[in-house]
Amino acid sequence: MVEGVHVGWDRIRECFSLDPAIAYLNHGARGAVPIAVQRAQQRLRDEGETNPIRYFRDLPERIAHTRRFLAAFLGAEPEGSALVGNTTIGAAIVLRSLGLRSGDEVLMTDHRYGAIAFTAERECRRTGATVRTVGVPLDAGDDEATATIAKALRPGRTRLLIVDQISSPTARLFPVEKIVAAAREREVPVLVDAAHVPGMLPVSVDAIGADFWVGNLHKWAYAPRGTALLSVGPRWRERIDPLAVSWQQHSGYPARVEWQGTLDYTPWLAAPTGLFVLRTLGVQRVRAHNADLAAYGQRVVGAALGLTPEQLPDPGSPEVAMRILPLPAGVATTFEAAEELPRRIEEELAAVVGVMSWSGRGWLRLCGQVYNRRDDYDRLAERLPAFLRRLR
Ligand SMILES: Cc1ncc(COP(=O)(O)O)c(C=O)c1O
Repeated sequence: MVEGVHVGWDRIRECFSLDPAIAYLNHGARGAVPIAVQRAQQRLRDEGETNPIRYFRDLPERIAHTRRFLAAFLGAEPEGSALVGNTTIGAAIVLRSLGLRSGDEVLMTDHRYGAIAFTAERECRRTGATVRTVGVPLDAGDDEATATIAKALRPGRTRLLIVDQISSPTARLFPVEKIVAAAREREVPVLVDAAHVPGMLPVSVDAIGADFWVGNLHKWAYAPRGTALLSVGPRWRERIDPLAVSWQQHSGYPARVEWQGTLDYTPWLAAPTGLFVLRTLGVQRVRAHNADLAAYGQRVVGAALGLTPEQLPDPGSPEVAMRILPLPAGVATTFEAAEELPRRIEEELAAVVGVMSWSGRGWLRLCGQVYNRRDDYDRLAERLPAFLRRLR
């Protein structure tokens, strides 16, 4: 395997189809897919069109091969891993398979991802269970975060703890190994929402030891959208049922979860090309570049907004390639306002950013990727303060 072929950072943007007029600083929400991966996916589609029956006949074997390849990259046991369309689907499969009952509860932190919370709420409504939320302070260290979550567990009643490995609204790394160990002591199963982890951080899924772990390869591992890996601990595998039943229903886990009839499986088959791109650029080199840039962006935009270094949230590890900073009081404090603001920032400042409403205030989220340069953040820092003043 070629590792770290020198491709100058200045040219890497040409490996993506991104609009050159825009600073794309929200890779965490929707990862841009390298052109090489787009082409690999298109070749697979072309192949399928030459003889769809033959193509679909051979697919289970090719999917199994791809699953083994992707599981190895993530340090997950291949027999415990299933490819799924995304993290949201993976979480829905877990929640549906648990067999929740009236009186049970699902515990989440207040850093959770909204759609996963909706999924848990729907499953609880259906079964008579409840969702409970535990607040974890933004500046809590690993021990405090672990202790806060552990204290909130109610053994015998909490049937699932859902914890983010890297949270979406707060871009924070949670000490999932410690949290899983604490939950195991109390016999509470854990689902780790690792949507941002594959590609961004080194990970050994099996070493985390969670009952369930699910992560997207279509964010930081350059896979086509629609590629995630669900890893399930041995004692649960037989209980895991897909959301829709199809022809592999009697083949056991993971095939019955993966096979969903006539779907487009080319994102999964092209995902190894994403890892090839990552490895060719150099996994460590890309990770260091992205994390440094996100930290740079947080610093320069934070300084432009008059924030002191102490007011810039620490993501819990210098390896995290996303950072948040608080917006002025009153800006993007509601979900609707936070939805609307990025569109205006894109139109007026030519930058795609994340805006979150979390804990009663608005936050700006910036990511770093190989196609970003320091001047993407410099330009945002120059223009954002006046833009925000106009809002008030
Ligand atoms: C922490 C977290 N979980 C889950 C998701 C959902 O990912 P997907 O839409 O690919 O299912 C996201 C998306 O950004 C996320 O940030």
